[in-house]
Amino acid sequence: MSLLVADAPELDLPGRSLVVRGPSPLDGTVEVSGAKNSVLKLMAATLLAEGTYRIANVPRITDVGLMAELLRAVGCKVELPAADSDGPLVVEVPAEIEPVAPQGVVDQFRASIEVLGPMLARCGEAVVALPGGDDFGPRPIDMHLQGLARLGVEAETVDGYVHARVQELRGGAIRLDFPSVGATENLLMAAVRAKGTTVIDNAAREPEVSDLCEFLNKMGARIEGSGSSTLTIKGVDHTEALRPVDHSVVGDRIVAATYLAALGIATGEIVVTGVDLDHMAVLCGKLSDMGMEISAEGESIRACVSGRLSSAKFSTLPYPGVATDLKPLLVALLSTADGVGSVTENLFAERFRYVDDLRLMGADIRIDSHHVVIEGRERLSAAKVKAPDIRAGAALVIAGLGAQGETTVSDAHHIARGYDDLAGKLNSLGADVSRC
Ligand code: UD1
Repeated sequence: MSLLVADAPELDLPGRSLVVRGPSPLDGTVEVSGAKNSVLKLMAATLLAEGTYRIANVPRITDVGLMAELLRAVGCKVELPAADSDGPLVVEVPAEIEPVAPQGVVDQFRASIEVLGPMLARCGEAVVALPGGDDFGPRPIDMHLQGLARLGVEAETVDGYVHARVQELRGGAIRLDFPSVGATENLLMAAVRAKGTTVIDNAAREPEVSDLCEFLNKMGARIEGSGSSTLTIKGVDHTEALRPVDHSVVGDRIVAATYLAALGIATGEIVVTGVDLDHMAVLCGKLSDMGMEISAEGESIRACVSGRLSSAKFSTLPYPGVATDLKPLLVALLSTADGVGSVTENLFAERFRYVDDLRLMGADIRIDSHHVVIEGRERLSAAKVKAPDIRAGAALVIAGLGAQGETTVSDAHHIARGYDDLAGKLNSLGADVSRC
């Protein structure tokens, strides 16, 4: 997509590889930028009201470029921060938007479906192509559509597009079968404009959902219960204007966890800044059980690993549990830990596409239904491997930090969808990662 290249010339492009020369211990400070899984929804939320929004702490990742494309297709002007500036992303939303999200942009990333709620709230109709994104099994949107139906929305899916319309959004009681992040967010963004009160029970509690609640409340929405399983939204009708806002994106806990997992493999001592330790409490508790020394230091996390970590059992769960996104990173970490460990996946059944590549690097991994059992090896060996998606790609890179020799991770553009300069940041910690 040519526009993306112009917007972000330093990003990895299809065909690029990352070459990791290991092993090398890590040392230094790394700053984590805003969360991918928040900024994309905040960008979608701008569609709710006309005006100019400034969003700070935006990660330089390709998915932000894709969401910018989508907003432009709808009629907005979007200015990404310049490559060498810490400036905000600026979205100018016009008085009229075109509530159509076309294939070609939408099918490249999952968060694109999040424009559905705001478009319905703003225009009473929306035509949105079915979303794409990482391929780790079926990712239905039935809960989004069932929830919207409770608010009065009629929707049908025809030729890969969701066609939705509503005469007037009206508040309703919604109980989600599962605390889906995307469904909670889509419903929130529709409900802020509904007539009356909406209650979402069994809502997702992820920090990125809370960041969206904060953004919407600053706009003039009336959401209570942020961070809990019950969200109460008192609708703001069209006579009361929602207004554009300035906002700074919550730090990316998944990226922060990636650097901690890298440390667990490579050993050393690092400080991770820009993320809230409370958002990673369960993970950090487990890492500390494995032998990593972790402490909060002001707004930063200091972590130290002096030898091989002990193995552990992980289970992915909705927040505050260990995030499913961390699974490949934990499998990589356990591949070099002492003893037999496991990761049980409870969200996405087919999140296993990196396992063969880790095996090529000498990892001893067995898959048993939704459990991955890993017998740790003292050292992995370098290999030529391929990034299948964002987190699995990062997992292969950090595995390379602990491997003897030169590991080449091809298809690095997947990693650039969710990581702001992973190679450069690892190098600032003393690693040797280059692009080719
Ligand atoms: C978001 C994150 C993703 C993370 C996931 C879970 C973004 C862009 N992506 O994805 O990185 O891994 O949360 O923390 O924010 N489900 C249904 N029907 C639905 C919706 C979901 O069955 O209508 C199922 C999914 O298949 C999955 C589970 O619910 O098994 C959780 O999905 P959900 O929380 O919705 O994930 P996403 O919002 O797609």
